[in-house]
Amino acid sequence: MTALKDRKILLGVTGGIAAYKALELTRLLALEGARVRVIMTRSAMEFVQPLSFQVLSGQPVCTHLFDLEAESRIGHIEVATEAEVAVIAPATANIIGKLAHGIGDDYLTTALLACPAPKIICPAMNVNMFDNQAVQENLAKLSSWGFHQVGPDAGNLACGVQGLGRLASVDEIMEKIRQLLTPQSLQGKQVLVTAGPTREMVDPVRHLTNPSSGKMGYALARVAKRRGAEVTLVSGPTFLNSPSGVKEIRVTTAKEMHQAVVEHMVQVDAVVMAAAVSDYRPKVTASEKIKKSDDNESLELERTDDILFRLGELKNNQILVGFAAETENVLENAKKKLQQKNLDFIVANDLTAASAGFGSDTNEVTILWPGGEVENLPLESKEVIAAHIWNRVERLWQA
Ligand code: CTP
Repeated sequence: MTALKDRKILLGVTGGIAAYKALELTRLLALEGARVRVIMTRSAMEFVQPLSFQVLSGQPVCTHLFDLEAESRIGHIEVATEAEVAVIAPATANIIGKLAHGIGDDYLTTALLACPAPKIICPAMNVNMFDNQAVQENLAKLSSWGFHQVGPDAGNLACGVQGLGRLASVDEIMEKIRQLLTPQSLQGKQVLVTAGPTREMVDPVRHLTNPSSGKMGYALARVAKRRGAEVTLVSGPTFLNSPSGVKEIRVTTAKEMHQAVVEHMVQVDAVVMAAAVSDYRPKVTASEKIKKSDDNESLELERTDDILFRLGELKNNQILVGFAAETENVLENAKKKLQQKNLDFIVANDLTAASAGFGSDTNEVTILWPGGEVENLPLESKEVIAAHIWNRVERLWQA
């Protein structure tokens, strides 16, 4: 079950070269089960064919205001009033100007005038055009009326120059849509999430680490942001993109993660430690690459600090959630960590289970509570598991 399943989305496509990216947006929205109605302006159709949108959305595409068949039901009003969110991607200077001045002279502008749903504008145009005072004032006016803006991004523009004007990434637009369709149950809350592995240097070219991908922690950060929380994500080295709207602090070692987490702990309402923190580091980090010899080598290791244990000591009013990564005696080991680290609940991960744990997009976890209650959650995407975890944190606040 995704945030977009069966949700009704109006996608307005206007005439810019980035119109082709709206095809990918349509594809991804449909893949998550959204019901997308695309409206194209005349200029958009110079760049992309309506048929492509029709195939990807599985719904008729609206192009002409005076289409006799669709308009026998006043189609543009129907499309506008059933939409739960309206997205204009790409949005040209022209549509931004028309919206800011209440002009309704084609299918898209009339539908948007009649659409009470939240609206997202995704500008894409030449850098000078975007800088133009008229465009900036129009955007400011739309923002004051409650329109949401995503992008533009900086980069190479189709007109051959560099600057601000690229359509925001499809991922970022998708995330904004999900956010607007999600109840803001974490509004006003500040949360801290850790993710990924840590890395302890042996010498300048070697390190000790583990296979954590960071996916569980990033899913927790994304879902909390989507529910309206102010999110700080302290992440070890991962290949994942920063979730949009989240304050991300990149660290490498357990020591750096410890410092960042303890520093932010005081100002947050909840901490979820999903990071796979190294328990040991080399006692000495060689300043030059260690050369091989014919003999066996051994490496002396020293303990890192247990961050979560320390948080358990510092805990004031915060909700504290830990993970337990286990390969044997899962419940028994997780229960010990729950008690020793003074947690509100712990999420136990059996690393030997198929399709769960490190690197996987799915997870199968058991939640243990201080009172002895044990909840088995079925195999689900890490986003769904993240939603279950936040539901439980929210329940603790309501109690
Ligand atoms: N953790 C931590 N600091 C460490 C090690 C772990 O904060 N130095 C946190 C993890 O983020 C996780 C919880 O403690 O939320 C349990 O981590 P886990 O690796 O399962 O267990 P450990 O406490 O390290 O114990 P062991 O390795 O013996 O299983």
